[in-house]
Amino acid sequence: MNALKPRVQEIVDEHVDAMLAGPRPVDLVRALSLPVPSLVISELLGVPYSDHEFFQTNSATLVSHTATPEEQRNATVALAVYLDKLLQDKEADPADDLLSRQILRQREDNGEVDRTDLMGLSFLLLSAGHETTANMISLSVLKLAQEPAAREAIRQDPAKTLPAVEELLRYFTIAEQAVGRVASEDLELGGQVIPAGDGVVPLAHAANRDPRAFTDPDAFDIDRGARNHLTFGYGPHQCVGQNLARLELQIVLDTLLRRIPGIRPAVPVEELPFKHDAIVYGIHEFPVTW
Ligand code: HEM
Repeated sequence: MNALKPRVQEIVDEHVDAMLAGPRPVDLVRALSLPVPSLVISELLGVPYSDHEFFQTNSATLVSHTATPEEQRNATVALAVYLDKLLQDKEADPADDLLSRQILRQREDNGEVDRTDLMGLSFLLLSAGHETTANMISLSVLKLAQEPAAREAIRQDPAKTLPAVEELLRYFTIAEQAVGRVASEDLELGGQVIPAGDGVVPLAHAANRDPRAFTDPDAFDIDRGARNHLTFGYGPHQCVGQNLARLELQIVLDTLLRRIPGIRPAVPVEELPFKHDAIVYGIHEFPVTW
C-alpha cells in the first residue's frame, strides 16, 4: 500500500485542483469522494476507468435498500458479463495489474485459469473497493468541519491524521451489516446458546460504542487510540482492503485540510441526504463550499 502513496496523492491533488478551479458549491461526492477510490481500485485491478459510470451505478444498486430484487439481479448479471469480457481480454493480453498477475499466477500454478474464481475476486474488490471508502471520505469531511479543535490539531500535526482516521472509522461504523456469520459449532454468547448452523448478525456499531471498550464512547476523540474498533470486521475474513482505505482517507484528509482548510457544508446539515436507504452508510450528495 505504501508503494501506492505517490499515485494516490497525485489523484487526490488533481481532483482538489479541479475543485479549486471550478465554481462553488461543489458536490464533494462527485468531485472527490467517489472518483478517488474508484480510480485507485480501477488502476489496481486494471479495469478501464472510462467504464466507471457503469460499475459505480451497478455496484450502488447492489447495496441499495430501495432497489428491487429484479434490479439487483440485473446489476449482478451486467457486472458479471462485463468482468467476464475484461478477464478474457486480460488472458489474451496480460498487463501490469492485479487481475493480470492473478491470471499469470494461476496459469503457472495450475496450468489454466479459473475464470469463475477470478470473476468472484474482481467483483468483490471492485464493488467493495470504492463505495465504502467514498462514504467515509464524505462523512469524515463533514465531521471535521463540525470539530474545529480536531481539524486544527490534524493541520498542525500530520502524525494525528491516522489516529483521527481510526476514530472516524469507529465513530461512523459505516458497514456494520457486512459482518454476518454462521455458527460453525454450538456456542454460548452472552448467556445465549447459538446452535451450529444458525446465522449471527453481530452489531459492530454497538461494539464500537461499548463503554467497556471505549471510554465515553459517544464522544468524538481523535486522541483515544481507537485502533481496536470493529469497523473492518474481525478474524480471517476481516476487510482485505482496510489498509488501502486508511491510506486513501489519510491522504484525502491531509490534502484537503492543507489546501482547502475552510471546507464546510454549503447547506444546513439537516438537509443533507444521508444514506438511510443503503447497506453502507454515507451521504448521497454533499454540497461543500469554503
Ligand atoms: C472505509 C472503507 C471500508 C470499510 C468500512 C469496509 C468494511 C468491510 C467489512 C465490515 C467487511 C466484512 C469483514 C468481516 O466479515 O469480518 C469487509 C470485507 C471486505 N472488504 Fe472492505 N471495507 C472498506 C474498504 C474496502 C476496500 C477499499 C476494499 C478493496 C480494495 C475492500 C474489500 C473487501 C473485501 C474483498 C472483503 C471480503 C473479505 C473476505 O471475506 O475475506 N474493502 N469490508
